[in-house]
Amino acid sequence: LFAQVEMAPRDPILGLNEQFNADTNPNKVNLGVGVYTDEQGKLPLLKCVAAAEKQLLEAPKARGYLPIDGIAAYDKAVQSLVFGADHAAVKGGRIATAQAIGGTGGLKLGADFLKRLNPDAQVLISDPSWENHRALFESAGFTVGTYPYYDAAAKGINVDGMLSTLKAAPAGTIVLLHACCHNPTGYDLTEAQWNEVIAITKERGLVPFLDMAYQGFGNGIAEDGAVVIKFLDAGLSFFVSTSFSKSFSLYGERVGALSIVSETADESARVLSQLKRVIRTNYSNPPTHGAQVVATVLTTPALRQLWEEELAQMRDRIKLMRTALVDNLKAAGITQDLGFITRQKGMFSYSGLNAAQMQRLRSEFGIYGVDSGRICVAALNDGNIKAVSQAIAKVSQ
Ligand code: LMR
Repeated sequence: LFAQVEMAPRDPILGLNEQFNADTNPNKVNLGVGVYTDEQGKLPLLKCVAAAEKQLLEAPKARGYLPIDGIAAYDKAVQSLVFGADHAAVKGGRIATAQAIGGTGGLKLGADFLKRLNPDAQVLISDPSWENHRALFESAGFTVGTYPYYDAAAKGINVDGMLSTLKAAPAGTIVLLHACCHNPTGYDLTEAQWNEVIAITKERGLVPFLDMAYQGFGNGIAEDGAVVIKFLDAGLSFFVSTSFSKSFSLYGERVGALSIVSETADESARVLSQLKRVIRTNYSNPPTHGAQVVATVLTTPALRQLWEEELAQMRDRIKLMRTALVDNLKAAGITQDLGFITRQKGMFSYSGLNAAQMQRLRSEFGIYGVDSGRICVAALNDGNIKAVSQAIAKVSQ
């Protein structure tokens, strides 16, 4: 039966974890996967999460099946966080939110739903994008193309290229956009550029799908979420996938959501009914624990406050590491302009290193980053930044 099965390639991001774990180099550093580690290099258990878990444990509950679309209080809390509790679209019942298995699960649900809705649509993702975007939409049966994004020479965004590709896209094209902290480049559109994207989306009848996996890691929770409100205020129908893996340091709990904004409450009810069919045929209904923790934190004022502070601490530490990386790279002898590192937002820096240089970092120094040149700044700390910078300087020579 399996004689013809070929060995699949390692996943470009999670496959690095496998290689990293097998590496016996005592000085190895994992800058591959997008995971925040603290100053001691440890994955944090947020205090707000520990407090919510303690609260839940004090009143333990039996675990029945959840509703197909997840815990109602969680879905409501996600909607309030992402769209604002008082927004007319929320109050008017125009948004359907379903708990999903992480942000990836939200994307997959959206992709499967869209495939049923508009099977011949084309999907456009940024060039480059998170490696899994293409794979997810292709495995849902779509043809996936790209719109220009990264401008290597300018160390920024090829905005003209992006906008002209969107202008030429046929109506109904699904456009995957990174709401904040673009993965992998770290370059985000300005407010004015977002306005242009929204105008084109409206004019051309495109279908926006916002991936928001890093809310709070750029400029702040509200600041990073402002793009979603812009789409809402423009009166568009669109998709938003949410992840709490990073912002709650709950990677292994797979806590995410998919929200779909419709034109009317009636439309939204029909959309949700179809979304529930997609969920039922994928995994029936979601798991309990992680979403309960997130809902508890988001809806308990003191815990919510604590979460916002802890998220701000992570964001601020990443910013410090960006400045420290620039200083250390300069001290290691790099003379090129490094201003791009502090202009980038979120967990990643698109370093400009090529695949051969990234492989050398791995084989000679035990420093793991993605072959695209993406390194996770959120995994740098005072203990590893000097060695990382010196290694980067060596492979850059
Ligand atoms: C990443 O880009 O490293 C993260 O989103 C983790 C993943 O699933 O790839």
